[in-house]
Amino acid sequence: MSKDVKSLQELIENNRKWASDISEKDPDFFPTLAKQQAPDYLWIGCSDSRVPANEIVGLLPGELFVHRNVANMVVHTDMNLLSVLQYAVEVLKVRHIIVCGHYGCGGVAAAMKNQKLGLIDNWLLEIRDLYHDKQDMFKGLRSESEKVDTLCELNVVRQVNNLSHTSIVQDAWAKGQKLAVHGWIYGLKDGKVNNLNVTVNESNQLSDIFRLDIDSK
Ligand code: CO
Repeated sequence: MSKDVKSLQELIENNRKWASDISEKDPDFFPTLAKQQAPDYLWIGCSDSRVPANEIVGLLPGELFVHRNVANMVVHTDMNLLSVLQYAVEVLKVRHIIVCGHYGCGGVAAAMKNQKLGLIDNWLLEIRDLYHDKQDMFKGLRSESEKVDTLCELNVVRQVNNLSHTSIVQDAWAKGQKLAVHGWIYGLKDGKVNNLNVTVNESNQLSDIFRLDIDSK
């Protein structure tokens, strides 16, 4: 048996143990969950393997609706993101959307360099724009990692704003639906999440230019 196949077999064995451990504690867990999901949270995070959504916040299957991409981006023309967002907000009626970035993000770091990587350069272009627009904030920072980490935070704030500007989120607010968009950042070095305190709860918090006139009737 090749090494690759053996390691895949291990994954299946891990899965069997995981499933039986849960079923032992709560025999109804999977049958109940199979009928419906009712998560309160939508998580938008980085694809980075070191930032596993459920584990970080101690949530079980069924408790977190998840969308991940490189550098936890909210791109307004991304049908994948928009579909997840609409389903989470309009059908599942999640109460909170959490954009969770992480320090030391490779996608963010790549957006600060001039090296050409391929298709990903276009995906990360909005972060490069952000870096360009906020140049002043980087002047006092000496180390490369400080710069990357600062841009990681700025990127989370930008994505929180991007989410708040969507018609999907603003429609929910206009209907009186309780929905908060939060910006968090995760530390790879200590495993801790920090709240960046940029939560948006209502359209009044948006700049006039982004506020949509929505007939809520
Ligand atoms: Co990342």
